[in-house]
Amino acid sequence: MKILVIGSGGREHALAWRLAQGARVQKVYVAPGNAGTGREEGVENVALTSIPELIAFAQREHIHLTVVGPEAPLAAGIVDSFRAAGLKIFGPTQAAAQLESSKDFAKAFMQRHNIPTAAYQTFSDAALAHEYVNTHGAPIVIKADGLAAGKGVVVAMNLEEAHHAIDMMLAKNTSVGNKLGDALSGVDQKESSKVVIEEFLEGEEASFIVLVDGKNILPLATSQDHKRLHDGDLGPNTGGMGAYSPAPIVTPSIHAGIMREIIQPAVQGMEKEGCTYTGFLYAGVMIDPQGNVKTLEFNCRMGDPETQPILLRLKSDLMEILNHAVHGTLNKVEPQWDRRAALGVVLAAANYPGTPRTGDVISGAGIADLGKQPEDVHVFHAATAERDGNIVTNGGRVLCVTALGDSVKMAQRRAYQIADTIHFEGCQMRRDIGYRAFAVKK
Ligand code: AMP
Ligand code: GLY
Repeated sequence: MKILVIGSGGREHALAWRLAQGARVQKVYVAPGNAGTGREEGVENVALTSIPELIAFAQREHIHLTVVGPEAPLAAGIVDSFRAAGLKIFGPTQAAAQLESSKDFAKAFMQRHNIPTAAYQTFSDAALAHEYVNTHGAPIVIKADGLAAGKGVVVAMNLEEAHHAIDMMLAKNTSVGNKLGDALSGVDQKESSKVVIEEFLEGEEASFIVLVDGKNILPLATSQDHKRLHDGDLGPNTGGMGAYSPAPIVTPSIHAGIMREIIQPAVQGMEKEGCTYTGFLYAGVMIDPQGNVKTLEFNCRMGDPETQPILLRLKSDLMEILNHAVHGTLNKVEPQWDRRAALGVVLAAANYPGTPRTGDVISGAGIADLGKQPEDVHVFHAATAERDGNIVTNGGRVLCVTALGDSVKMAQRRAYQIADTIHFEGCQMRRDIGYRAFAVKK
């Protein structure tokens, strides 16, 4: 069987690598992929990105199943187009992907279905937004409505930051407004003409990712990521600087609560609204010290970098799981997980999360020779490319060095041991990925 993975990041490298180990898998294609997927055994890159070209490729190559990594093609309707062409694909339709592509849709949906989330209001009028912030005070959270690759959210700790964020997001036709426009890559700028302003929630975040076949729900191993650029969870928000699995904060009772209060109502709610959900569903949740959980956001895909540690722990055949997912039989699946913990450390390029510098040559273990890695480690490539015989940086998050260990602490030690052998100019790497897991009492 041939599989097609859409995307080019670390998440897609991990998906392709795990899928390629499937007993019935002959070849995994990644479109467009990166230098890592290009060198992985059983995996081949195809330089295609447009939906019609991908459909033609899938038909010509008799692709058994297509899996979509990132949100942008989902929001553009890739699942609808593949299905219309009679092709099997795992992901939500364009309408269902609004759970991620429109914060306003997601918040209104959560309200309609009593899914716990922060109190909020949506604005397109800047003056009213400023007034709301003045009334409610800081800290307060300002979110651009459309997709923004993790960059459309400002957690304003004071009123000045809040007002500035509103100006950035709503002043479309000014030079400041256009700055955010640049961040909304590939997304219609009209999308940024609304902001969601919501209550600031305190607590600890976790990523709760499940597979949905329309009706049945299969939770993956729990995980947590670190969104801020600097150690101690300080500095600007990023797409994620590292992640680990399991997340000790998600105790069995919190796990059951998230399924009961967030995931099940979301899947049932989508079905009731005539928008049956299929695909990965990722709830970003905030857990307060009393163990109450609120939904920060929904994503209609797996997390990056959460996917890397999650899939390093997956022992079952991923292709068979996804096959059940597209046939509506996820209730028949019981995935097996490595008992060990896994932790991934992101190596990011100079100037990330601003405009990253590209073209820096990368050297070190697991960069060129992916087949020679120890059993407990995998270096997943993200923004890498091959140039003149070298592997070079090609975007913001460059690599995710992921390792297994008997505890999160041991996995952390092992991941940094390998990460410290890798070099490129301007590399940014947090030194404390996983620290929140150490404080949790078992
Ligand atoms: P989102 O894309 O909505 O998940 O927001 C990105 C990040 O901003 C989250 O992972 C949180 O760290 C932070 N954040 C979002 N909403 C809130 C909130 N209501 N209270 C506190 N932090 C938030
Ligand atoms: N790591 C966060 C995300 O994938 O949205």
